[in-house]
Amino acid sequence: MTPSPEIALAQTFLQQAMIAIAPANVRIGCRMIREGDEAHLLPEEARSIPARQPATRRASGAARWIAHGLLADIGFNDFALLRTPSGAPAWPDGIIGSLAHDYDMAVAAVAPIGHIVSLGIDVEPAQPLPHDIFALVATPADRTGTADRHLAGRILFAAKEAVYKAVYPLDREVLGYEDIAVDLNAGHATTKTGRKVSLAYCVAPRVVVLAFVETR
Ligand SMILES: CC(C)(COP(=O)(O)OP(=O)(O)OC[C@H]1O[C@@H](n2cnc3c(N)ncnc32)[C@H](O)[C@@H]1OP(=O)(O)O)[C@@H](O)C(=O)NCCC(=O)NCCS
Repeated sequence: MTPSPEIALAQTFLQQAMIAIAPANVRIGCRMIREGDEAHLLPEEARSIPARQPATRRASGAARWIAHGLLADIGFNDFALLRTPSGAPAWPDGIIGSLAHDYDMAVAAVAPIGHIVSLGIDVEPAQPLPHDIFALVATPADRTGTADRHLAGRILFAAKEAVYKAVYPLDREVLGYEDIAVDLNAGHATTKTGRKVSLAYCVAPRVVVLAFVETR
């Protein structure tokens, strides 16, 4: 199905915003989730994803459609990106990456292992975070600095999710929001496991946060 001009435009704007924040060597992409996107799951991928809501499978299919393209660009054609029991995807040897989806948009980031050794990404609607969720996510250690004050909570939330995805494959430890301290102005976060994670984000047309662990 050909996307409407509005969808195509939203994707193009987000793609440009994401490329602008991505460090060198990190390939990044987005796709507005469409009906039928579950068909982009390769058979082994579909089997690795436990039975869930059709909408969630569609989102996972859209994210893998992006990842398949990014991986093909660096020589991995038709690579089945299986979901492991922890939920983290199993990337090809020597490659790191991350997936995310909100209700409408899927995103993915991929890079060869180099000075960046792990990646995490999250996407969220560019809308204020509800107060009750903010109360769960924010701690006194967080610093949102000069971030847009209507979106600061949403960026903080996305940053913690992206940090978790970047750090989990390294430490295999489940973290809560209280275990991650974010400093948006400084562009980094620190976890209770002692990881320092760099952050980059955009807010329009959606909030996307990219978290990456660098070698020192
Ligand atoms: C990882 C997690 C934060 C993802 O959040 P979500 O809102 O459900 O979903 P998102 O769209 O942002 O991301 C989904 C993708 O994250 C990735 N993911 C899931 N678990 C992961 C993990 N342990 N490590 C790295 N990536 C993971 C998967 O690729 C998944 O996509 P898929 O199901 O299509 O394969 C959540 O599933 C989780 O494991 N939470 C437990 C810990 C937690 O919530 N702590 C508080 C946040 S710090």
